[in-house]
Amino acid sequence: MQFRDLIKQYNVLKPEIDRAMVETAASGGYIMGKAVKELEASLAEYVGVKHCVSCANGTDALTLALKVWNIGAGDAVFVPDFTFFASAEVISLEGATPVFVDVDPDTFNMDPVHLETCIKRVIKEGKLNPKVIITVDLFGLPANYPAIRKLADQYKLLILEDAAQGFGGAIDNKRACSFGDIATTSFFPAKPLGCYGDGGAVFTDNDEWATLLDSYRVHGKGSFKYDNVRIGVNSRLDTLQAAILQPKFKAFKDYEVADINKAASYYTEKLKGVVKTPLIPQGYYSSWAQYTITLRNNQEREGLQAFLKEKGIPTMVYYPKPMHEQTAYKDLNYPKGSCPATEALCQTVLSLPIHPYISKEEIESVCEAIKEYFS
Ligand SMILES: Cc1ncc(COP(=O)(O)O)c(C=O)c1O
Repeated sequence: MQFRDLIKQYNVLKPEIDRAMVETAASGGYIMGKAVKELEASLAEYVGVKHCVSCANGTDALTLALKVWNIGAGDAVFVPDFTFFASAEVISLEGATPVFVDVDPDTFNMDPVHLETCIKRVIKEGKLNPKVIITVDLFGLPANYPAIRKLADQYKLLILEDAAQGFGGAIDNKRACSFGDIATTSFFPAKPLGCYGDGGAVFTDNDEWATLLDSYRVHGKGSFKYDNVRIGVNSRLDTLQAAILQPKFKAFKDYEVADINKAASYYTEKLKGVVKTPLIPQGYYSSWAQYTITLRNNQEREGLQAFLKEKGIPTMVYYPKPMHEQTAYKDLNYPKGSCPATEALCQTVLSLPIHPYISKEEIESVCEAIKEYFS
């Protein structure tokens, strides 16, 4: 059994993907070719925003957004303590300071109550200027935007939605990547919509920011290619990756998101009363980048993971270490207990195999093995 079976997906989509790759090779338009513009237009339409600017990966997508907003030294950027390192790393790369916010233990997403506590603390200390909230749509579930948008308005902060894992999710039919003032995603192969290498995209309704994003991703280009009007980066999405994403995006829209939701519901039904399963609040829709259960303690988690491994069932721990405990952030001196929900989750979460092509029998065998462990 595969944790996320990308080869199964390739075998289903092989004719379209092979054609896309061969056509790109024959076209000669390897950089910013036709497929890039076409993909950007179709992604923007799906998400329901005006602009999509593709780029080289999800980390660059976040960096480009921070550059557009001129975030740097002296600025505070609020970010969940429970996320992949890139969500925080980009803040430090721009010279700003990450402020780690605890998460809700049921949804795994940023806790708005702790967010407000952190904002107030930063204002009171008076050392940093609060500027941006990076929300993360963790494991495919959109963050609590109704509550976080209220706080952003109240404290005049911008929202950067990190939907690297969240593409395809929604709240009341409004899609992920449309909640932030700027939103980003990643096309890393194992993401809900993945390519065959690295890729990413930035979304916004703001015309001026879209123009800046387009400039920053190509060395800060001006209207004339060889007059560079700002310091930018080289972060384009390859035509080949855009071409591969086109048939994958069609499958994603046509059935993959629906099928992975069926798989997740089946897991939840089978695991009811056995372990704590993920909570999807009313009106929310997840694209299930991960299906993550929570055990009662670390010993139980480690024991179950080892037991499943023996049976050939792959699992992953996302994430084993809070941001504030990362070695790279030791100078920020966060004491133990700063983000208690995150600290507990890092000891107890376990992600199970899930993807749109997983069979009912595979899910049943995972659930049977979990039940056997607890019996
Ligand atoms: C929450 C989150 N943010 C950002 C990233 C960075 O994306 P990429 O690997 O495409 O740079 C990832 C990817 O792993 C992620 O999970």
